[in-house]
Amino acid sequence: MSFQIPRGTQDILPGEVEKWQFVENTARDLCNRYQYKEIRTPIFEHTELFARGVGESTDIVQKEMYTFLDRKGRSITLRPEGTASTVRSFVEKKLYANPSQPTKLYYIGPMFRYERPQTGRFRQFVQFGVEALGSNDPAIDAEVISLAMNLYQTLGLKSLKLVINSLGDAESRKAHREALIAHFEPRIEEFCSDCQTRLKQNPLRILDCKKDRDHELMETAPSILEFLNDDSKKYFQKVQDYLGANGISFEVDPGLVRGLDYYNHTAFEIMSNAEGFGAITTLCGGGRYNGLAQDIGGPETPGIGFALSIERLLAALEAEKIELPITSSIDCYVVTMGDQAKDRAVSLLYEMRNAGLIAEKDYEDKKMKAQFKSADRHQAKYVAVLGDDELERNVIAVKNMETGTQEEVSIEEVISYLTSKL
Ligand code: HAM
Repeated sequence: MSFQIPRGTQDILPGEVEKWQFVENTARDLCNRYQYKEIRTPIFEHTELFARGVGESTDIVQKEMYTFLDRKGRSITLRPEGTASTVRSFVEKKLYANPSQPTKLYYIGPMFRYERPQTGRFRQFVQFGVEALGSNDPAIDAEVISLAMNLYQTLGLKSLKLVINSLGDAESRKAHREALIAHFEPRIEEFCSDCQTRLKQNPLRILDCKKDRDHELMETAPSILEFLNDDSKKYFQKVQDYLGANGISFEVDPGLVRGLDYYNHTAFEIMSNAEGFGAITTLCGGGRYNGLAQDIGGPETPGIGFALSIERLLAALEAEKIELPITSSIDCYVVTMGDQAKDRAVSLLYEMRNAGLIAEKDYEDKKMKAQFKSADRHQAKYVAVLGDDELERNVIAVKNMETGTQEEVSIEEVISYLTSKL
């Protein structure tokens, strides 16, 4: 019997995993510069959290969650995204009571959605996301968007498009909602069954329907921007001013509605324009979600954040043919000849590694020539050759693989010799 990996998941093997580590380390460094601190929440939560947090009318909650009953019959869901869990923790652990606000958090971890797998779309994928809770300053909107752009740019991506929109505050949204219902209701039977449900639940989501995308009423639908009240307009203008001051170009797209229910005010997406990137071009999505903390039982708290998947980021790097500066060379490969030398190499390697050197040896009883080949494959900077003969004289021959020069040093001194050279 043989086993295959579940559809929509991947094994990330050595050779590829270094890219992931590089991207993750870059994201962590950047978060430190912006002073976002890491939060780690469970991979599964009570289903109700996502139903409330992400929203009953979303595709995620209706069709895409990995939900199961645990042994005590409680409904559990593998997290489809990180915002609901982060806000749950913020409320439950009373992070709002911390004198230093806003609370700026980030996470990197696997998310699960039962979607139809295709290029750039997985059932398990890794999101890097940030959430800033407790500030209503449009400068924090610009900061969050800038951080996302910064990550892509730091990694070398050039073909990026930032699209922003405002979904307005509660008052603006209510007015827009009524206009949308009046617009779609008379002909709602021409729309898919999902849209018919959305009409009453959340008519904004109709604008995001993939099935009815080409219906003529879509194009003439009332735009949110016409319904923004003065406060919402001012807020949106300020976000744009700050982005402009940071030198970040963007487009305003009144059709950008996002697929989750919790958004208001700023919504944004970053896409890749790279040729051959594929059908799914969205790299990153986010927005403001004032009210989410309250919806899940916490105090009224403004919040904004984004999430992006490492899978799509790596695909964008590939489409733009960007090589990450990953080095996999080692400091020293120990080549041995003879049984006693082979035994001595075991503790020598241990000492080298204790001293902080990246060191390796052969474990397959290879001939000397094959050991040298192995050293090459490891891109060893130095090769230390130890034969029984050298062992008797208490020396080891150290070869610099770049210059080809070789020196004999005493075994006791080889580590300090290498450390001084590297
Ligand atoms: P989202 O738009 O559902 O938003 O997902 C954000 C990002 O996650 C997408 O832009 C994409 O990079 C990645 N992603 C989503 N689904 C998949 C998939 N099936 N395969 C690969 N990558 C995927 C959220 O998740 C919100 N929590 C973002 C947010 C944070 N809003 C405020 N704070």
